[in-house]
Amino acid sequence: MALLMDSRLLLRKIKDLRNLTPKRYRVKEKWATTRAKYPSTTLALRHFDSTYDSQLGKLWPSVRVALLSERKYGALLNNFFQHACLEDLESQGCHDFIRDADNEVQPSLEQESGVVAEKESVCVSDNQLLSPLQLSPNIKCLVFPRGNISRFKPARPDKFGLLGYYLMDAASVLPCLALNIQEGHNVLDLCAAPGGKSLALLQTLSLGFMCMNDSSVSRTMRLKRVLKSYVPKERLSDEKLRVTSFDGTMWGEIERNTFDRVLVDVPCTTDRHSVMEDDNNIFKKNRVGERRRLPQLQTELLLAGILAACPGGEIVYSTCTLSQLQNQSVVEQAVHLAHENHGIQLQVVDLRPLTHMFRKTFHFVPDLPLGEMVIPHLAANFGPIYMCKLWRLT
Ligand SMILES: C[S@@+](CC[C@H](N)C(=O)[O-])C[C@H]1O[C@@H](n2cnc3c(N)ncnc32)[C@H](O)[C@@H]1O
Repeated sequence: MALLMDSRLLLRKIKDLRNLTPKRYRVKEKWATTRAKYPSTTLALRHFDSTYDSQLGKLWPSVRVALLSERKYGALLNNFFQHACLEDLESQGCHDFIRDADNEVQPSLEQESGVVAEKESVCVSDNQLLSPLQLSPNIKCLVFPRGNISRFKPARPDKFGLLGYYLMDAASVLPCLALNIQEGHNVLDLCAAPGGKSLALLQTLSLGFMCMNDSSVSRTMRLKRVLKSYVPKERLSDEKLRVTSFDGTMWGEIERNTFDRVLVDVPCTTDRHSVMEDDNNIFKKNRVGERRRLPQLQTELLLAGILAACPGGEIVYSTCTLSQLQNQSVVEQAVHLAHENHGIQLQVVDLRPLTHMFRKTFHFVPDLPLGEMVIPHLAANFGPIYMCKLWRLT
């Protein structure tokens, strides 16, 4: 025992010493004139203050506080895991927010959806001709109750090396639920790495075929590692699952009119990351061009996703930014281009039945003209997640 204490003290001393000793840099420190005046997190926050204040109005101050506070996670249960984690997590005070959804029908939905359609340059469907949204009973995601900021313990592997749950922003599961996967569906996840949403889609256990794509080779490797930790080997070698690393904007050239469901979860300004982490931050001075090109890239990716879907298929566009330019404007532009350049008719699907079901778990922006958005809130610090669902008619 005394030996253990001694070694702990020694470790702490070494740590303290490390803090006193200046770090050695692999590259020389920049000259004062070229060194960034402000950290990228500060630049991000300034940018958001100037754009979101007018976009979100009186919601922005509380969203801002939440964005700068510790985020909340959800534990996506792995159906391929040998032991039941559900009871264990429930005994810690969590609950499955999908099972506990409020299934009461929202009053006056039809009447309101007409108003939404009038405001939009794109058509919003009242969902009457679409297959009704049926939440897969196999996707389970546990969260701590509102106001409870407990953390999940890291998942432990079973005897096959598989993990029982995947920690992710619980609001990220919503675009997967919105996709409404049915038995035998062929699915494309166009920007799939590191793989949280792909894993959620796999949990439905209903897929006919699924292609997971990401243009970044290193992130595709990460996606493969995630799959290996959650999906049994036999399934991964199955021809029903394919991992590719193509430029998603070119997908229309590869495979058109093919998939029943397409998820287009695009790269964006990842608002929460941008205000919290300087590492890999898109607000760095040398990434201004990349950041400005995002809406163009997002539009091209969504258009490619639309072309990849079969007529009658459904596409969900999602981001983790609050930016109207990267959300609503991208959807409008892609719908316009699909019609003008390819003669494809699309309808925006009203997702209010979904947000109504989960209104006790997440905070949604009220009356967003196009799509739905989870906004961070101190009592339920999930998101931001924007999603918009399109139904390809022709
Ligand atoms: C928001 S992340 C996707 C997160 C993922 N869906 C998940 O749930 O874990 C966006 C991804 O898009 C990828 N990406 C960027 N440009 C792309 C392109 N042209 N084609 C395909 N993927 C792209 C990035 O490498 C990044 O992994």
